[in-house]
Amino acid sequence: MPVPKAELHLHIEGTLEPELAFALAERDGTELPFASVEELRAAYRFEDLQSFLDLYYRLTDVLQTEQDFTDLAEAYLSRASAEGVRHAEIFFDPQAHTARGVPFATVIDGLWKALYDSEQRYGISTALIMCFLRDLSAESALETLNAAEPYLDRIVAVGLDSAEVGHPPAKFAAVYRRARELGLRAVAHAGEEGPAAYVAEALDVLGVERIDHGIRVLEDPMLVERLVRERIPLTVCPFSNVRLRVVDRLADHPLRRMLDLGLVATVNSDDPAYFGGYVHENFDGIQAALDLTVDHLRTLARNSFEASFIDEPTRARYLAELDAYTF
Ligand code: HPA
Ligand code: ZN
Repeated sequence: MPVPKAELHLHIEGTLEPELAFALAERDGTELPFASVEELRAAYRFEDLQSFLDLYYRLTDVLQTEQDFTDLAEAYLSRASAEGVRHAEIFFDPQAHTARGVPFATVIDGLWKALYDSEQRYGISTALIMCFLRDLSAESALETLNAAEPYLDRIVAVGLDSAEVGHPPAKFAAVYRRARELGLRAVAHAGEEGPAAYVAEALDVLGVERIDHGIRVLEDPMLVERLVRERIPLTVCPFSNVRLRVVDRLADHPLRRMLDLGLVATVNSDDPAYFGGYVHENFDGIQAALDLTVDHLRTLARNSFEASFIDEPTRARYLAELDAYTF
């Protein structure tokens, strides 16, 4: 049985497997610019974040109906339950859908049908994190937050994703302020392709509680010290970093160094359909590549629950389960 863990960095649109993409395209009568599953899989070779995002947004065209979003989330939950995931905080990108004319309600109602009773059906508690696309305007982010207001009981936090460089966190100061006034928690992608300074800015200007990726903090030892001292969690995605060429090879990944420095790092899958594995494959792969010890693995799993936006009794229950687990 895989180690019990929480997954905190997972884009639901990034779980769209080629087979499901073709099935949904056929059901809804949408066009995919690929002749076959094999041809699509062959396109999963990326130069950088942008080349991945181009394909990722292209494929979201097949997500049209509430049922499509439900099927997407169900497929993820079923995979994740076999991988030891006990709790998942799931990103979604409403603007990737509303920009195509799919109503916000279709997206969130469809996802919710899969998520509201995920604990009973899959043994996974879930929470939704609504991400703003940082390469779109702050006004568009604010409109998205307004559209979400009737659904705030289904959303735990806001996040920030898409093309990082040139779109610093401060661009979204007002929308994050409003989100926190509405009672939402806050995270942001920072320090993936962008500089360490974006990590500090996300903390100071947006008031985020966790950083998604954040591996470029290692370029700033003072900032590392701060993150260790303040116990700011980093949701690290090893397979993603290799596929998007943030690091050359898994064996060069800084995760082990991050843990040894005392950073509160976690392991996550990001966009598992695109990057070659779900969360447990990430655990296995990085463990082998970096020769991680059982202590490292236990720390990673413990960090994942400690960094989660769950209530304290639930956290205690998951941590007890982890304590009883033998590697
Ligand atoms: N980085 C930024 N935006 C994203 C990612 C990512 O890894 N995945 C989906 N949107
Ligand atoms: Zn991500």
